[in-house]
Amino acid sequence: MIPRRVSVVGGGIIGLSIAWECARRGHEVTVYDPDPGSGASHVAAGMLAPVGESYFGEQELTELLLESARRWPAYARELAAASGHELGHRTEGTLQVGLTADDLAQLRRLWTHQRELGTPVVTLDSDQLREREPLLHPRARGVLVESDHQIDPRKVVAALRSLVPVRRAAVASLADLDTAADTVVLAAGCASAELAGLPVRPVQGTIVRLRGPVVLRHVIRGYADGRAVYLVPRADGEVLVGATVEERADGHATAGGIRDLLRAATDLVPELGEHALVEVSTGHRPGTEDNGPIVGELEPAGASPRLLVATGHYRHGVLAAPYTAHAVADLVDGRALPLLWAPFTPQRLSAGGAR
Ligand code: GLY
Repeated sequence: MIPRRVSVVGGGIIGLSIAWECARRGHEVTVYDPDPGSGASHVAAGMLAPVGESYFGEQELTELLLESARRWPAYARELAAASGHELGHRTEGTLQVGLTADDLAQLRRLWTHQRELGTPVVTLDSDQLREREPLLHPRARGVLVESDHQIDPRKVVAALRSLVPVRRAAVASLADLDTAADTVVLAAGCASAELAGLPVRPVQGTIVRLRGPVVLRHVIRGYADGRAVYLVPRADGEVLVGATVEERADGHATAGGIRDLLRAATDLVPELGEHALVEVSTGHRPGTEDNGPIVGELEPAGASPRLLVATGHYRHGVLAAPYTAHAVADLVDGRALPLLWAPFTPQRLSAGGAR
């Protein structure tokens, strides 16, 4: 393996995890970002939930995310050990619940699909559900997905930042990048569209943070009278309520969006109505035409510096970070992309991934 000089454009969880992996493999790395960790990573809840996030018709993406989820426990241990940071990694599992007959009909179709993936989705009777999560509304019914976990993305970003050098510089154009690197990795989320003409669009999401005395034991996701919601409890008493999915990019949280999130949250867990609302944050998921990430070599191949890309992770940036870092570091090392990444190269895109 020849040591490379690598510049990573973008200091979110994807760029930082690539940088750390490259540094661990002996490459010299610099991350460029005027405000690292302030984008989607700052807003994300950190669900490591490939089962809960598996949708019909996305088999290849689900396989990729399942593999990244398998890597998270070792990755979290190594990152915590290297940085000395605690990461909020919790493995109690996720409850998928619904309130009404229609909610449960919708969920049952999803559970059938999730079971077909071979993952354990355990039906709980109402006593078992209540025993696991006493604060759930008595009408709630659902399942436990033991393998869907959580981590705190803000803590992960802080840990990664302590391990890789970051230049607080904005990159207006890749051509003007002031670097002596022989490899540039574009990991700029939504800004990848402007920087490389990639078909990445901002999908706005608002998430609300509550804080109160009662403690949820699991991540809870599901539907409350048709409203989709997830609740992610942290060990310190914070509960994240997410998230809106909006095809716009003005950065404004709307009253209607917050109302719907809070209504669904308090319908499922009435006690949350007593919590303090401590933060509303809005960010932009980098969405792609097929919801899959874009990872690989950008055209023209053989350019100097070599140009790689890792963007478009949409709802899955935190979950996919360890495996993305591994795949990109393999490319930097001169190896091929791992096979599961073959459907996600820039060459599949309608724009061809060309600059
Ligand atoms: N991964 C959950 C979301 O994007 O809202």
